[in-house]
Amino acid sequence: MAGEHRLRRVLGPVALTAMGVGAIIGAGIFALVGEAAHHTAGPALMLSFVVAGVACVFAALCYAEFASMAPVAGSAYTYAYMTLGELFAWIIGWDLVLEYAVGAATVAHSWSGYLRDLLKDHVQLPKLIAEAPIKFDHGHYVWTGSLFDGMALAVVAVVTTVLVLGIRESARFNATMVVVKVSIVLFAIVVGAYWIQPENWHPFAPYGYAGLNFFGHIVGEVGDKGKPVGMLAGASIIFFAYIGFDAISTQAEEARNPKRDLPIGIIASLLICTVLYVVMAGVLTGMVRYTEINVDAPVSAAFGRIGLKWAQSLIAVGAVAGMTSVLLVMMLSQPRVLLAMARDGLLPPGFFAAIHPRLQTPWKSTILTGIIVGGLGSLLPIDILSELVNIGTLLAFAIVCAAVLVMRKTAPDAERPFRAPLVPLVPILGIFFCLTLMLSLPSVNWLRLAGWLAIGLVIYFCYGRSHSRLGKQLRHEIATHGVSPAGMPIDEP
Ligand code: ALA
Repeated sequence: MAGEHRLRRVLGPVALTAMGVGAIIGAGIFALVGEAAHHTAGPALMLSFVVAGVACVFAALCYAEFASMAPVAGSAYTYAYMTLGELFAWIIGWDLVLEYAVGAATVAHSWSGYLRDLLKDHVQLPKLIAEAPIKFDHGHYVWTGSLFDGMALAVVAVVTTVLVLGIRESARFNATMVVVKVSIVLFAIVVGAYWIQPENWHPFAPYGYAGLNFFGHIVGEVGDKGKPVGMLAGASIIFFAYIGFDAISTQAEEARNPKRDLPIGIIASLLICTVLYVVMAGVLTGMVRYTEINVDAPVSAAFGRIGLKWAQSLIAVGAVAGMTSVLLVMMLSQPRVLLAMARDGLLPPGFFAAIHPRLQTPWKSTILTGIIVGGLGSLLPIDILSELVNIGTLLAFAIVCAAVLVMRKTAPDAERPFRAPLVPLVPILGIFFCLTLMLSLPSVNWLRLAGWLAIGLVIYFCYGRSHSRLGKQLRHEIATHGVSPAGMPIDEP
């Protein structure tokens, strides 16, 4: 493939793990955890984190196998192309927009909320641009009095600019942010541990352990808006906190030794974050009774409650930094998936596969991503955004697990530098956990997901199908000769 469509190989294992942690720790642990602890799971949130973490570990092992086999930028999209064919690949690629672009919008929304909270005694934005126009409050969606969220829009504009300027610069910016946020999480854990009152952990599961929603039939307790509540429902909310480890796989073409370093990056970043999250959930629910946990800025507010105002501000600053690096990685990943789809002819390559000649970044699709993320993040309520991200990402994870099963059957002898252990058990458990978490979300999300996929199918049948460059012949070549779906030989580092 011509040089103008290639990316620079600059990332090693530490940078990739940092990219993973950069994508993972963010709005989930700093913001969504409040809703999950207060209204959905109580102290059993610790178990919710374990369940969601286990689901992700199974999916991560499957991602790692594919990432080592096909280190090209498309991530789950590419894996689906290799195994399940073009239509499925398109569905996954389209679905990944929910994970990366809508995910980034969710984070931009929380970012702005934390900053507003941090600055509230010093700076007030004009009401009309202070926050998203609608929010969920006491069981109803209400107008906030604003037209859009100006700060969410501003942070997306800055991140888009950083990304257009280049991957090396982005990696450096990300590494700094990662150090800041991991330090802040460790600080909150260590200092917060002194303030734990074990009686706050009783009752441990005030909403029960269930929280399943079989298309309107709820197993367990029912909360606001008819949402399922309980430990499992909590897991389906804070699943968001784990999203991001898979984003590393979209940086495959910028990795120096992708076959070895991608699995390391994916699994190491997920394990680090799982441990931090479970401990953090224990500290938070131990410091503050679940009924009093703040829903907007739960971690920093917990320190405010015990009178440590300086710690409250410090954590809020760390949270803002943490969410910035999540935004960075998610908005870095989205254009790379679009790039892979465009190389295959499923999207117009002149736009989506255009690499800037000097900056060597997919600049046009990065700017388009910025516009979409900024629009959604500044207009939509956080619960709609985050639930949509979760159901879309869970679907992508389940399909990647299924694709590992298929690939082991269709190409048993293909080179697998990293092999997921205990196949078929691990992928099957991955699918089971992902489907269970999908069923723990409010059922309206299934309709939203179906609507989104239907729009995608219309685009595919109107454009992608007739422009696709590959079709059956190349899929055959991939299975037999190790050639990527774009027809590019996979580079040895
Ligand atoms: N895991 C990322 C976050 O929590 C998406 O912000």
